[in-house]
Amino acid sequence: GAVELGPYRHYMQKEIFEQPRAIGDTLEGIVNIAPELFDGADGTAAWRVFQEIDNVLILACGTSYYSGCTAKYWLEGIAGIPCNVEVASEYRYRTSVPNPRTLVVTISQSGETADTLAALRHAQSLGMAHTLTICNVATSAMVRECKLAYITRAGVEIGVASTKAFTTQLAGLFLLTLALAQSKGKLTEAKEQEYLTAMRHLPVALQSVLALEPQVVSWAENFAKHQNALFLGRGMHYPIALEGALKLKEITYIHAEAYPAGELKHGPLALVDSSMPVVTVAPNDELLEKLKSNMQEVRARGGVLYVLADAKTNIDNAEGLHVIRMPENYGALSPILHVVPLQLLAYHTAVARGTDVDKPRNLAKSVTVE
Ligand code: G6P
Repeated sequence: GAVELGPYRHYMQKEIFEQPRAIGDTLEGIVNIAPELFDGADGTAAWRVFQEIDNVLILACGTSYYSGCTAKYWLEGIAGIPCNVEVASEYRYRTSVPNPRTLVVTISQSGETADTLAALRHAQSLGMAHTLTICNVATSAMVRECKLAYITRAGVEIGVASTKAFTTQLAGLFLLTLALAQSKGKLTEAKEQEYLTAMRHLPVALQSVLALEPQVVSWAENFAKHQNALFLGRGMHYPIALEGALKLKEITYIHAEAYPAGELKHGPLALVDSSMPVVTVAPNDELLEKLKSNMQEVRARGGVLYVLADAKTNIDNAEGLHVIRMPENYGALSPILHVVPLQLLAYHTAVARGTDVDKPRNLAKSVTVE
């Protein structure tokens, strides 16, 4: 109803703008990284699990799968723990090699997605007893059936296209990364405090990214005229490119694909011409120089680039090159910030095309049957 929507036109827009609050609530009260964050008790159960595991297997569907793909970069890069991420509907039906020292992590907004629940039960039936879920619904089947849990506090999400659930999942997964790093002796106290300080800054940081909305609206007016779009990213921003493409597909019905930028010349470059907008997630990190040469390849073929860059990056607006500057560089937490303009891009493109933003055709909020 109009009351709950307040100043917003759709639930999706409202939920995008709720993200500072959702992340703030999800991280509220955390003063230290400790196992008890994951067992709702004194931490003994989580501590024992963390000692016994030496790798992580993430299982999820849809947007939740992409938060898992992002977490892989954190888990391996920060905690030094091998991590695999698999779409739940694939994992449940294939012959895999079970490892009892695996921490099975399911990620789910609803906690009721049929394939994710079945994948969890499948892993358990193969003898994997160390299970943890990152979930937005405390009373869900997923939380009941996993030994450990981190409950995100996004609040009820109504828009079919997930937004605040995604960023709060990322916050939970970053905490899990730090807890596992700590349990493996890979987190100094100084680093712990540095990461916690960065996490506490997220609500304010998100607020200033949301203030970029008018610039995103002008991108959306161009996107609305196209039938295709390509999203590029590298490293932990590759899954953010995937999520940006998924958002666009879901609510605008524009065909969108995401590629790791290094793969451009192995296929998608053949599609690039002036009718193919190319979104590039380009924070100022060690991959930026590589990404710039990918961007050159696009421009040389007449492709029009839409670049999300950092404050300090020397990428400037030019013919065929549209730049939105993120207010800061966010280090390891950067994916949580960079996804926001992509959510807004999908949203405003959908509004420009007049689609049913909150209830896209053929899709359901929660897929509880196979
Ligand atoms: C559906 C929704 C998506 C969601 C996916 C997984 O496809 O439309 O927004 O990401 O299910 O749902 P879950 O509740 O398990 O995160």
